[in-house]
Amino acid sequence: MRKIPVGLLGLGNVGSGVVKLLGDNADAIRHRLGGASVDLRRIAVREADKPRLVDVDPRLLTTSVASVLEDPEIQIVIELIGGEDLARRFVLEAIERGKHIVTANKALLAVHGDELFAAAERHGVDLYFEASVGGGVPIIRALREGLASDRVDELVAIVNGTSNFLLTTMTDEARPFAEILKEAQDKGYAEADPTLDVDGWDAAHKLCVLVPLCFGTRIRVEQVLVEGLRGIEPIDFRYAERFGYVIKPLVIAKDHGDSVEARVHPTLIPRRFMLAAVNGVYNAVYVSSYALGSSMYYGRGAGMMPTAVAVVSDVIEVSRNLLSRSSGGAPLRMPTPSGDRGQRRIRAAGELQSRYYLRFAVVDKPGVLAQLANILGEHEISISEVVQEGARKEGSPVAVVVTTHQALERNVQTALSLINGLPTVVEKTRLIRIFE
Ligand SMILES: NC(=O)c1ccc[n+]([C@@H]2O[C@H](COP(=O)([O-])OP(=O)(O)OC[C@H]3O[C@@H](n4cnc5c(N)ncnc54)[C@H](OP(=O)(O)O)[C@@H]3O)[C@@H](O)[C@H]2O)c1
Repeated sequence: MRKIPVGLLGLGNVGSGVVKLLGDNADAIRHRLGGASVDLRRIAVREADKPRLVDVDPRLLTTSVASVLEDPEIQIVIELIGGEDLARRFVLEAIERGKHIVTANKALLAVHGDELFAAAERHGVDLYFEASVGGGVPIIRALREGLASDRVDELVAIVNGTSNFLLTTMTDEARPFAEILKEAQDKGYAEADPTLDVDGWDAAHKLCVLVPLCFGTRIRVEQVLVEGLRGIEPIDFRYAERFGYVIKPLVIAKDHGDSVEARVHPTLIPRRFMLAAVNGVYNAVYVSSYALGSSMYYGRGAGMMPTAVAVVSDVIEVSRNLLSRSSGGAPLRMPTPSGDRGQRRIRAAGELQSRYYLRFAVVDKPGVLAQLANILGEHEISISEVVQEGARKEGSPVAVVVTTHQALERNVQTALSLINGLPTVVEKTRLIRIFE
């Protein structure tokens, strides 16, 4: 019986799930590999004596990553350490030694993807990364294989479970963001340092993995418009509901033919849109493509076992390639869908178009609304709806909430910098983009 020797780097959340799944589903995996088995030979960790989430033979553990990479028998290296620099070094070294790679590390791929994919191609090895986006939701396979014959026009997705959990809780409980974040951290739903999640960077990394698969165009994180959740207040959920929307942490990527747009921000979406029903820690990816039309992929975007499903499925696929001697044959990144358009320009933030929700806090005096409307009009921003509430107390500011028709981001930002400078405007205007 053939054994596929595998080395694992990292035995944290996801690594533990991988060990458990390889054990729990060993028979099914062997069956799917035509009788061959995945043989976990070594596991590199930082501290050998730390308590672990799974039972593991202590003889497999090592604090020497080199001993995994240098083991000539190991054919597949699973990278589950996380971070960018060390992971890049280890993955490159493994590739140079002819080992196939499975990783869940979106930050690594977003920042060093070009270098790693080029190295994998040069050395004729596979580099699989299903778990890097959507956890257990097989969106990479859907884009790479299921839609290989189609042309993706647009992708709209919720790919950060922590952000979705925070916004869902704010929608349900109308409490301030900081309070809900603190509670989520205490319960372990959010990291102690929540920056990557709540400021949009984790989602931006994932978008950088998805865009080349959708459009055949590479993108760097700095080219993505990224906005986090911190400025959203309970009052915004109230107005959203009044206008028929919910607020979701979206990533949006669109093919404009000559250019591609990519953005990450909290977004108002109509209640009837399928993504509006994706709540809590769940992820979902909505894809619009030329021949299939709309399709959606939904499930648990993180966690020990869901993420392990994607990692182990990749290990099975690489093992199949090894067994059929077809490893490294086709680069995993899809070629440009139309075949000849090649790398396209990424639209700058100012060029993006959207509808907008603008919440102004102004002094309650005649003429203020007209002043706002004038500045918006002068910048080609036309108003769709306006709501103005009376002052709660004499002299306190009032909220004026405006939704706009499609407008150019550059014009909106210029108009807001003028509006925010008016003596009648008492707080920075809250902007949330609308998607429909
Ligand atoms: N958690 C999720 O739900 C999830 C979902 C999708 C993707 N991912 C991605 O999966 C990867 C792993 O995430 P995770 O949550 O499993 O991380 P984690 O719980 O922090 O585990 C990291 C593991 O790497 C080991 N490690 C770190 N530096 C090392 C080094 N220099 N040498 C040897 N071992 C080292 C740690 O060893 P010790 O245990 O000894 O400290 C630990 O076992 C990340 O790229 C993450 O973005 C995670």
